[in-house]
Amino acid sequence: MKVYITRQIPESGINKLKEKGYEVDINSADKVLSREELLNALKQKPYDAVLCLLTDKIDKEVFGAVPTAKIFANYAVGFDNINLADAKEKNVMVVNTPGVLTETVAEHTFALMLAIAHRVSEADRFTRAGNYKGWAPMLLLGANLAGKTLGIVGLGRIGSTVAGYAVRGFGAKIIYYDVNRNEDFEKEFQAEYRGNVDDVLKEADFISIHVPLLESTRHLINKERLAMMKPTAYLVNTSRGPVIDEQALVEALKNKIIKGAALDVFENEPALALGLAELENVILTPHIASATEETRSKMSDIAAENIIVALEGRVPPNLVK
Ligand code: GLV
Ligand code: GLV
Repeated sequence: MKVYITRQIPESGINKLKEKGYEVDINSADKVLSREELLNALKQKPYDAVLCLLTDKIDKEVFGAVPTAKIFANYAVGFDNINLADAKEKNVMVVNTPGVLTETVAEHTFALMLAIAHRVSEADRFTRAGNYKGWAPMLLLGANLAGKTLGIVGLGRIGSTVAGYAVRGFGAKIIYYDVNRNEDFEKEFQAEYRGNVDDVLKEADFISIHVPLLESTRHLINKERLAMMKPTAYLVNTSRGPVIDEQALVEALKNKIIKGAALDVFENEPALALGLAELENVILTPHIASATEETRSKMSDIAAENIIVALEGRVPPNLVK
């Protein structure tokens, strides 16, 4: 069996594939392959499986370049980079890496949420610049998460884990919107369902986004919805950039329509919306919410395991289509 990997990932999964006796080829350049490079790489050999990244756009043309491949394993939980209708048409299985990164992304969400409310990056810049002249009662005042209302938009694995940490650790009140209501979750965390996103935005002190990127969630947070939020509210996004109209967010932050935002994902990665990086009331991390040593290795393992199961003729555990 032959497997192509579109960029170096942690070794653990690669070793699993090699232990099976599979021939593994990996893009040797430490960069995202251009469209043409990807197509050429896949045409080199009759690969049976491809392990790809969220930075690879996978569609009909890509499947066509490697017609022998039975499975594309996406090294991510999100799979909006893959055209599932094309995969279905070409009879290719698509798998992702759910579960193993849930707690890590939830932790990063808290890192961002607490950092923006406690002004950590701003305070760090201030201190390094030599501006700290002595303790002061009014220096860099922030806001508590404790006792506040956290609005969760998208109550999947990650959204519900974030909610659990907020309730157990900070005594926050949870309100949430999801296309599916979850009454067991509501009971466990005294959480309240809201029938639409607007009602969550109007009421919450912190809003954390955990929806997948779909046509229905693109620009879910737009200018009108930002205007519904409290002027004291913070917005956190560890899902996918295009869920927020980033230019509208820049305007909202500039005009103090909301208090602050913390983003791990961007609308046109790796580019940032004009003016975003100049704002003090925003925290930016470069799509690293799942980036711990442990989790990135587990993602490598689970992608490899799915490939092995599929190539042995069984249904892989994390099939997404
Ligand atoms: C990262 O963004 C992922 O979807 O795993
Ligand atoms: C993704 O893992 C989710 O369900 O939130």
